[in-house]
Amino acid sequence: MTVLITGGAGYIGSHAVRRLKQAGYKTLVLDNLVYGHSEFVEADELIIGDLENTKLLNQVFSKHKIQAVMHFAAYAYVGESVQNPAKYYRNNVASTLNLLDAMLAYKVKKFIFSSTCATYGEPDEIPITETHPQRPINPYGQSKLMVEKILDDYDHAYDLRSVRLRYFNAAGADPDGGIGEDHDPETHLIPLVLDAALERRAHISMFGTDYDTPDGTCVRDYIHVTDLAEAHVLGLKYLENGGKTDFFNLGNGNGFSVKEVIETARKITGKEIPAKIAPRRPGDPASLVGSSEKIKSALGWKPQFPDLPAIIETAWQWHKTRFGRTAQT
Ligand SMILES: NC(=O)c1ccc[n+]([C@@H]2O[C@H](COP(=O)([O-])OP(=O)(O)OC[C@H]3O[C@@H](n4cnc5c(N)ncnc54)[C@H](O)[C@@H]3O)[C@@H](O)[C@H]2O)c1
Repeated sequence: MTVLITGGAGYIGSHAVRRLKQAGYKTLVLDNLVYGHSEFVEADELIIGDLENTKLLNQVFSKHKIQAVMHFAAYAYVGESVQNPAKYYRNNVASTLNLLDAMLAYKVKKFIFSSTCATYGEPDEIPITETHPQRPINPYGQSKLMVEKILDDYDHAYDLRSVRLRYFNAAGADPDGGIGEDHDPETHLIPLVLDAALERRAHISMFGTDYDTPDGTCVRDYIHVTDLAEAHVLGLKYLENGGKTDFFNLGNGNGFSVKEVIETARKITGKEIPAKIAPRRPGDPASLVGSSEKIKSALGWKPQFPDLPAIIETAWQWHKTRFGRTAQT
């Protein structure tokens, strides 16, 4: 079976490609390389292009016998989405419509979608389950929720079946090496902490230490990227076996605080990692932890890397290899 992976040169997409190949699928990546890295792509073929380009999409679908699509391609900077929502609605919603149009034209009816916990907004309760109301508080989360709604309508009208995976915070790197997290700009806590370990940044800021959490810092749910990739393959197999449209959280089920992440990284790296207290950031909930019980019982998903040290250890191995030589030490 041939799978088209949009955004397959990015962080999570490249891990999904590796896992798909291991599971015996033929893989075709479409990525504009705006944020992706061509050297991450282990797919059978990389097509460099943009989902905006409907002519290219038609060519891709007419040339290849694509039977399923995994759609990772999107912009994902929350702050930027508030400043420039047009960019987010155009890329994350309009370009997704282009992709869905091409799928319908070529009768491709299986779709795995990268959604996000940002579709839930401020949580009413922790852990967040899939029945929690979706009330995004920024255009990025809105854009992902819009696609989720479009997918419900496309299922009813066109029989296009989808699995929507609402990720919490992806982290870590495949222990086999070669691929990992390299966002520019980077906004995620673990790579920023590891940057401080490599002295690529002077310190790490802890935004707020007076939250209602055990140590006062924000608590987040970190899920290993290899476990995320595995969930995509399980989702695809589910659709292949006739599974109906569904949506699942993908988190660890355990929350880890900012202080815990820094302390664990200090132990693993053996580096000091200076940390400074900074004011709270607007829109940061105290705790964001998801329940992944639904995907465990429905698809048999079982995380291999649920522990924070294992997640940070794999991230550190990658980070040292990728960025160590350019560091000041
Ligand atoms: N990283 C996380 O923790 C996280 C959490 C929740 C959801 N997500 C979602 O998962 C997906 C992947 O995230 P990531 O961290 O791997 O991001 P990433 O930026 O590393 O990967 C996205 C890839 O899509 C490509 N792309 C973007 N727009 C495109 C377009 N119009 N045409 C072709 N290619 C395009 C980029 O070049 C990049 O390679 C995104 O949809 C994101 O919203 C990520």
